Amino acid sequence: MSKTDTKINNSMLGRSEIQSMAEKLYLEGLNLSATETIELLKSTVAHNYGLLSQDPVIRAEGAWLYTRNGRKIFDGVAAYSAANLGHNHPLVREMLLHFLAHQSPTVLGRFMPDPFLALFGRKITEMTGYDCFLPANGGVEAPEGAIKLARRWGNNIKKVKGTPEIIYFAGCFHGRTLTVTQMLGDDIALDGFGPYVPGFKKIPFGDFAALKNAVNENTIAILIEPIQGEGGINIPPDGYLQELHNYARKNNVLVIYDEVQTGWGRTGKLFAWEHDGENCRPDILCFGKSISAGYAPVSGILARKELMDLFGPGSHGSTFGGCPISSAIAYAALHAIEMEKLPEQASEKGKYLMTELQKIADKSPHIESIRGKGLMIGIELKKGGPDGHHYSEIFMEKGMIVKDTHEWVLRFTPPIVASKDDLDYALKLMREVFIG
Ligand SMILES: Cc1ncc(COP(=O)(O)O)c(C=O)c1O
Repeated sequence: MSKTDTKINNSMLGRSEIQSMAEKLYLEGLNLSATETIELLKSTVAHNYGLLSQDPVIRAEGAWLYTRNGRKIFDGVAAYSAANLGHNHPLVREMLLHFLAHQSPTVLGRFMPDPFLALFGRKITEMTGYDCFLPANGGVEAPEGAIKLARRWGNNIKKVKGTPEIIYFAGCFHGRTLTVTQMLGDDIALDGFGPYVPGFKKIPFGDFAALKNAVNENTIAILIEPIQGEGGINIPPDGYLQELHNYARKNNVLVIYDEVQTGWGRTGKLFAWEHDGENCRPDILCFGKSISAGYAPVSGILARKELMDLFGPGSHGSTFGGCPISSAIAYAALHAIEMEKLPEQASEKGKYLMTELQKIADKSPHIESIRGKGLMIGIELKKGGPDGHHYSEIFMEKGMIVKDTHEWVLRFTPPIVASKDDLDYALKLMREVFIG
């Protein structure tokens, strides 16, 4: 350390040394070769995801990713809907720079009052019409929290006599912790992870008779995605969600919507439940993904006060859930969602894409059907031809991410802020691949 260099924040190093070291660390990442990156990923990181590309991404802006080897790729899945606002949204980025410049606490522990969590709470409740929320981190923590809350209600308020039961749906996806892993239909996800948490009953999606059949005196909740995302963009029949809510209410059963993927404008409303009106407002709403504009893992649940009050101190929580930096990011992201009018944009752009994609489907020998709501779009492929993974690879080669789900469906969920030109680029590639 030079004589003029002052130490900062109890660090061993002086300011200038910190600055040059930070730059060096950053450049190390920026300049790591594609080969080294792939080798390190293979040798040091769990292989729980396959790679669709061997070309590392080093910059991201709006709907576009820029790679180590100089390619530009359209993010047609918006980082699994975590980037509804696009990558590096400027409002959230600027807010974060202020936050860091002022030495704001990044993490405290919830026992210390934090103004950004308070502001996050006010904004999210105002925007969604719920009384209060429980902050968490990764998306899966939202259904986990909802399940715990429903069980506490079922045991302590409804006072079921047997094992409290939660109904869930074939084709659902709620994440990969032990509680919800059992809900995944596919063998790869299930093999060897038992025994599972008891108290869950699976029924077909969109079948009201099956639902009526499944509810009994021990049923405490129904856990549903209003549109199944990972399951293949499955939309329930008209009126189904209305019937579900009426039946749940009649039988004193809570309704939990997992809107981790469908939330924050994706389907053309702030939340997908709104398509069916206030009668379909869920008792517990799970959210995640683009609540943070992709800057940090932020998720949570929303509920009425009397329900949320069942969580007292010590009953639920996590060190980072609702920490100041996540709260500041989410607070800015909520303003960005409002400012960008994400639901309106998704609705308008979704109509355009659906019309154009239908024209492609009409001419293509490879597409069975197109379905979707807002910018949550599924392309069902003709069985017997190349599968979804094959097309994901072809689109990646051409410069666009489109991901397969359940073998025969391609998921197309671009950033909601993607421009008309961006979407036309995607449509051009679709025409090339599906019509030729
Ligand atoms: C409906 C739904 N719930 C929960 C999750 C889990 O979120 P995460 O992967 O952030 O844990 C996902 C992820 O795609 C999802 O689509």
